[in-house]
Amino acid sequence: MSDLKIAYDILSKVYQDGAYASLELSKHILKATNQDFVVHLIYGVLERDIELSYYISKLCIKRPKPSIVIVLKMGMYQLKYMDSIPAYAAVSNTVDLTKEIKKQELKGFVNATLKNFNNNNIELPKDKIKRMSIEYSVPEFIVNIYLKEYGEDKTKAMLLKDNFSYEHFRVSSKYSMDQLLKILKENNVEYIESKDNAIFAKNNKITQDIYSAGNITVQSKTSMLTCEALEPKDGDKILDLCAAPGGKSIYLAELAKDEVTSCDIYPHRIALIESYKNRMGVENIKTVINDATILNKDFVDKFDKVLCDVPCSGLGVAKKKPDIYLNMTKESISGLPKIQYKILDTAKEYVKVGGILMYSTCTTLPQENKEVIRQFLSTNKNFELIDERQYLQDDKGLDGFYIAKMVRK
Ligand SMILES: C[S@@+](CC[C@H](N)C(=O)[O-])C[C@H]1O[C@@H](n2cnc3c(N)ncnc32)[C@H](O)[C@@H]1O
Repeated sequence: MSDLKIAYDILSKVYQDGAYASLELSKHILKATNQDFVVHLIYGVLERDIELSYYISKLCIKRPKPSIVIVLKMGMYQLKYMDSIPAYAAVSNTVDLTKEIKKQELKGFVNATLKNFNNNNIELPKDKIKRMSIEYSVPEFIVNIYLKEYGEDKTKAMLLKDNFSYEHFRVSSKYSMDQLLKILKENNVEYIESKDNAIFAKNNKITQDIYSAGNITVQSKTSMLTCEALEPKDGDKILDLCAAPGGKSIYLAELAKDEVTSCDIYPHRIALIESYKNRMGVENIKTVINDATILNKDFVDKFDKVLCDVPCSGLGVAKKKPDIYLNMTKESISGLPKIQYKILDTAKEYVKVGGILMYSTCTTLPQENKEVIRQFLSTNKNFELIDERQYLQDDKGLDGFYIAKMVRK
């Protein structure tokens, strides 16, 4: 089987069955001769999906069958974004793929469409929102919201796909930055220092081994900042209501030393927190299966600090998830603010007087962030906002993230 056919099979699963690209890749990538090529092509096609769909709509009078749409996207992506492949090779290997997937009757159509694409500049729409949606390959409704909220320059910076290829590693409390730096230097691993207990480094066999030993973990800068903003102190009783896979709970437990109560609605996700705990050797975490939208009487007035790291659209980490926009519509994410509000409104009952209620998301959409908090504060006068931050994703490894810290008066 050719590498292109392996990529095609994975993309078909993602497009037609809604499978996760990363999972399908991990199942099938070892079959490929040139694994880097297959990974680049799959993530590239998914990342540029809106743009490639636009070209197909311009070049084909009638929308082709779903299988041929995938083939054309693969060919167009190679032509536009993979400099290592000469245009004639991109066209001929895609035509061969058409035969390999048993659509030989469409070889001529694929060949002509790709040559047409390669030889002509397809004009983008004049309308700014439509044009940016295609240029950045992001749904129009997101461009629209970002432009209104953040203006054009910030929107462009947030939507630009970059080549930042470092992972952000946090050093565990049982290890030290000096120990980490020594190993990275000895093995010539590229890194950029980030904070005194964290580093951006290339993810490879060396970092994987230190990770497996529980000495470092992958945790974004913004996720760390959320925990630090909670200012956990020894003696604090901390509740993390939407905790899986456990990134913030583990760091909070390391910072606070006392027991952190770590909840999630799904038992299989609670298991992720347990295995994270075991890998890191962190013991002061108690996991509880709990639906954060329903009042748990055992928690009422019991906690000094309550974190609601609510489920969200995840747009702040879109640069790391090439398939995030597939099937995302205004409607598909419209129900989130109601759930987010319900979680926050339930969580308020668990905070002691004088205690902290923290709300966080990894998105940059105001309706999931400041609008939820404004609504909450307007009906809960006994809570006061003492810190609010909206981080925007950049090209230096920072994710988009929102935190609101409130004190119960
Ligand atoms: C943004 S993730 C949390 C990430 C986590 N705080 C971390 O730092 O690793 C949101 C979590 O909320 C959980 N969740 C969704 N609905 C929930 C509910 N009603 N009650 C509790 N947890 C919920 C999801 O299963 C998911 O694990």
